[in-house]
Amino acid sequence: MNACLRAVVRSAAHKGVEVMGIGHGYQGMIEGEFRLLRREDVANIVQYGGTILRSARSKEFITAEGRKKAYNQLVNHQVEGLIVIGGNGTYTGAGVFHSEFGIPCIGAPGTIDNDLYGTDYTIGFDTAVNTALDAIDRIRDTADSHDRVFFIEVMGRDSGYIALHAGIAGGAEALLVPEILTDYPEMIEHFKNKNKRKKQFSIIVIAEGETEGQAFQIAEKFNQEFPEKDVRVSVLGHIQRGGKPTANDRILASVLGNASVEALLNGSTNLCAGVINSEVVLTPFDAAISGKKEISKQLLQLSKILSD
Ligand code: F6P
Repeated sequence: MNACLRAVVRSAAHKGVEVMGIGHGYQGMIEGEFRLLRREDVANIVQYGGTILRSARSKEFITAEGRKKAYNQLVNHQVEGLIVIGGNGTYTGAGVFHSEFGIPCIGAPGTIDNDLYGTDYTIGFDTAVNTALDAIDRIRDTADSHDRVFFIEVMGRDSGYIALHAGIAGGAEALLVPEILTDYPEMIEHFKNKNKRKKQFSIIVIAEGETEGQAFQIAEKFNQEFPEKDVRVSVLGHIQRGGKPTANDRILASVLGNASVEALLNGSTNLCAGVINSEVVLTPFDAAISGKKEISKQLLQLSKILSD
């Protein structure tokens, strides 16, 4: 998000437009947490995760009174357009805000889950995948040395993207993702049939939102089925949401920050910037919110072939 913010501020400065940073998202907008951001104010942040503006989930912005207060703050601070970075909730808020007050709003997709329609990748996803992958590689040493089965839970409230990408890159034996309802029984079948292989250890990557349950529950069920296996669980949690962003994330964030400024200055509104097949695209908020980004069936199939 810092790389995106930097790109917004500097792209706007390039066009001679001033940027106000709003702290703590919509809540900060209501409370008047505004500060002028000049080119130099976003120096030395591109390498940091999180956001120097800080973030918040605002209950007040869901109310009409809250949004009215936010609008008054924008007027007081002479703000003429908004760029919001976030996911579906952020886009929904911006869409409603625009319909009530006519302020042009453009969105940039920021979530590690990569579950937003209108872009191949969201800001933060690549970093989260690489962090999860690093952890998987480290856990693999214990799994291998001790002949253990490891269940590693990665983030993804409703989405198996991190599990899929980190799982394939980390050579997982099985992947459990919310998008596939039959993956648990398929995994059990796989383990029943694989005794012909000498390999004793396994890495199984589970998305947090897996329908079969959470990693500890699944590991326990698995262990009842295969009592001879030495099973361990590792829940990676919020380490995936921070740290030094990868080059890909910084580049994506920079491109999308710049595209958001261009869109706003061209007079557009209610669009979110994304990159599809390496091209910048702008998708209406409504389409991005209602659209469902499918997980790649080809990659899921590939993960099975590779672990067979
Ligand atoms: O939506 C992104 C996400 O990282 C999910 O994968 C995860 O479930 C959630 O956020 C965690 O949110 P919080 O930090 O509020 O617990």
